[in-house]
Amino acid sequence: MKIIRAKHMGFCFGVSGAINICHKISNDEKNKNKKIYILGMLVHNEYVVNQLSKQGFKIVQELDILQGRDKLQRGDIVIIRAHGTSEKIFEILNKKKVEIYDATCIFVTQIRKTLVKMEENGYDILFIGDKNHPEVKGIISFGKNVTVCNDLEELKNIVIDPKKKYCLLTQTTLNKKKLEKIKSYLENNYQNVKILDKVCGATQVRQEAVEELAQQVDMLIVIGGKTSSNTKKLYDISLNFNPNTYLVQDENDLRKEWFEGKKKIGITAGASTPEEIVIKIENQIRGIH
Ligand code: F3S
Repeated sequence: MKIIRAKHMGFCFGVSGAINICHKISNDEKNKNKKIYILGMLVHNEYVVNQLSKQGFKIVQELDILQGRDKLQRGDIVIIRAHGTSEKIFEILNKKKVEIYDATCIFVTQIRKTLVKMEENGYDILFIGDKNHPEVKGIISFGKNVTVCNDLEELKNIVIDPKKKYCLLTQTTLNKKKLEKIKSYLENNYQNVKILDKVCGATQVRQEAVEELAQQVDMLIVIGGKTSSNTKKLYDISLNFNPNTYLVQDENDLRKEWFEGKKKIGITAGASTPEEIVIKIENQIRGIH
């Protein structure tokens, strides 16, 4: 039995950056007596979130802030999670005079800024992504004329006015292949849509790597949080090439029967999955065989 890791997997730049910001803030002497909150899940991984709460970080939910049920006090620290938040939350936090540290990944911030700039330049925005994902909700809250579509089918139902200018933006974790289809549909049918490809580099290399690996192995384990969008995309891509693909959160999700007769086992992990979890899973697999 051989375990083969994807060429690119695990923590991305944005996730490590957000975790580092948290540690830097809590290690800073001047914050010694302050309450430090993280807005929602810093990154979409239960293990990382549990580790942070063990280290003393509190969590404040977006909904509680919006409904005035939070316990935030003037001077408390609030760290904005890696996938960002809405304009309204920033507004409320500023009014509460809490100290805001923005750990939003720069790729998410760049999309938000581009959206605002393109609207100022007269473009309506077509946004491809999951409208229920906090990243998308946060980004589009900064716009006025935004239509969100999950995929090409939904996009085809949108009325695109030939007299208007449109700009297409995407969620950072969008499947590249999905985007290529959307691009060619728009380029073949409309002259008035400017396409700005904003899939982040970390997502792209992880998706390419899992596609390659899924074709070389007998089975593939995708490791990541249940709410992690990029993990789910890795799973979908792998499944497309290899029916023996399984998504697990940690070693407890592994099932012995999956491994029967399998010699080459591929492994990948979402951008918010820590190395400790990957190692635990590899050890457990070796124990099964
Ligand atoms: Fe940022 Fe891409 Fe990671 S958007 S958080 S570098 S998956």
